[in-house]
Amino acid sequence: MNILDAIYQRHSIRKYKVQDVPTEDIKEIIKAATYAPSGKNSQNWHFVVVKNKDKIERIAQIIEEKNEAIAKKIKDEDRKKSFTKFLKFTTHFRNAQVLILVYAGEYPVTGYNELLESGVPHEKTHELLLKPSPGIQNIGASIQNLMLAATSMGYGTCWMTSQNYAAEEITDYIGFDKEGYFLATITPLGVPEGEVKSPPRKPVEEVLTIVE
Ligand SMILES: Cc1cc2nc3c(=O)[nH]c(=O)nc-3n(C[C@H](O)[C@H](O)[C@H](O)COP(=O)(O)O)c2cc1C
Repeated sequence: MNILDAIYQRHSIRKYKVQDVPTEDIKEIIKAATYAPSGKNSQNWHFVVVKNKDKIERIAQIIEEKNEAIAKKIKDEDRKKSFTKFLKFTTHFRNAQVLILVYAGEYPVTGYNELLESGVPHEKTHELLLKPSPGIQNIGASIQNLMLAATSMGYGTCWMTSQNYAAEEITDYIGFDKEGYFLATITPLGVPEGEVKSPPRKPVEEVLTIVE
């Protein structure tokens, strides 16, 4: 499959067939993720692959439990309802055979101390260097590689961050402990079930400015 086909055929997949994903395929997909560019070639990513259905189910339950605990403390009934309703969008990965957790490590931004030393105020230095989150840009690039590789191999994925309020509980449960690393995102991986389509995009003219 050529790269443009993979780009246009990738969709967020929320239903999966009960069909195994061979470990060799998972390794190939993760390898593709590691071929993403990263600032100073820092490769500040780590991928945890959960292949055990019971553990995937337990992670979904951990999110449900945390959602419930948070919801209990929300006073406004409408906000509570919409927070709880969103849970479907957060736990559908339990349908998949594989769950990939993507961890982000620290990324020391170049020039931070130098800008401060040169007299640029703290707030401005933050705005110029940290707001664009270069460390997280590395992670985004790797996830997109992962997803396009998966698509080209006939698998589906879904970039997910809505569960991040339960990140610490999930990390404790799987026992992942790498100094400075935090859970950035997760994605299910598997063979898509049923028809898949994506929501429409803004017209290119709306998001493109050409300077000649
Ligand atoms: C940073 C990020 C976070 C997302 N979080 C979730 C999520 O928690 N749950 C979910 O079902 N989809 C999530 N999505 C998927 C988006 O809803 C989806 O990419 C978007 O609607 C466009 O659809 P498409 O991926 O099929 O093209 C997320 C996507 C991104 C990039």
